[in-house]
Amino acid sequence: MNKARKELAERLKDIDVVIEMLDARLPASSANPMIAAMTRSKPSLKILNKQDLADPAITALWLDYYERRPGTRAIALDAGERAPTQRLITACRELAPGRGGLEKPLRVLICGIPNVGKSTLINSLTGRRIAKTGNEPGITKGQQRILLADDFELVDTPGMLWPKIIVEQGGYNLAASGAVGRNAMDEEEVALELVAYLMKHYFVELEERYKIEDMRDCQDFVVMEAIGRKRGAMLGGGRVNIQKTAEIILTDFRAGSIGRLTLERPDEWVRWEKIAREVEAQRQIEREAHRLERQGKSAEAAGQPAPERKPGGRRRR
Ligand code: G4P
Repeated sequence: MNKARKELAERLKDIDVVIEMLDARLPASSANPMIAAMTRSKPSLKILNKQDLADPAITALWLDYYERRPGTRAIALDAGERAPTQRLITACRELAPGRGGLEKPLRVLICGIPNVGKSTLINSLTGRRIAKTGNEPGITKGQQRILLADDFELVDTPGMLWPKIIVEQGGYNLAASGAVGRNAMDEEEVALELVAYLMKHYFVELEERYKIEDMRDCQDFVVMEAIGRKRGAMLGGGRVNIQKTAEIILTDFRAGSIGRLTLERPDEWVRWEKIAREVEAQRQIEREAHRLERQGKSAEAAGQPAPERKPGGRRRR
């Protein structure tokens, strides 16, 4: 990750605008915190891609959420859009009004986590297949420079993953979208979290897709079993094949067959992130305490004075 960080820092030096592609179904989860931290000083365009799969009302909330940030514009796109070029160029030019013309060409960096649709967008911007598209997350593609207009250069970065997933729901949402490989998380758990979220916000869509009735007050795992039964995902002895059911639900979600769904809302994300940071801070304190305790024990064993403890802090010098 250090190598990726260094490469990005180097590349950013002559960049005027940073485009970050996000998945409109999970905008915050699909953002890379490292990119956010490193590009804070640059004007930023957020592209909420795959909007055709996302809940339009929630996409509007996210666009508003990003547009409120200083130096930030946000647009929603989808692969089906025939000519996204002009919208994208206009938004970037607005973000860097001082650049443009052959003397001062506008240089724009585009980044995003794997599977967010970057290659598809670049292909549609250039009108040809210059980057490989595929749904196997983690395929690294080389950097490329694309001239979208005489004075507008798009610099592509290889797919970058996030340094660490802190928000638990973010991990589930990434897995549900297919952005993290199939083996990275337990599919049954991911599907169960998805069902729980859909029951909360999209129960009607769930009922209609799977023809389940009167289950609003049931628990998520009961609903999941009912879906399996309806879909004939059965093992011997009348037991439901939960693994198969999970696959059905995840495939349906990824294809948009349940409906246009978004797995997080701005206010929810702010809440989840706050909780995650508190949990993370507590864990750091506990780890540090444990480290000092171990150090103390080995110092005692060596007949030296144990290091003093400072609450939540480092060893006093
Ligand atoms: P990446 O470079 O960021 O890794 O992503 P890539 O363009 O390869 O896209 C990943 C998958 O997402 C592809 O599906 C692509 O078609 C799909 N995709 C990209 N943008 C959109 C969009 O706006 N809406 C929808 N619905 N899908 C999008 P695939 O199954 O790998 O390929 P295929 O179905 O196109 O053959």
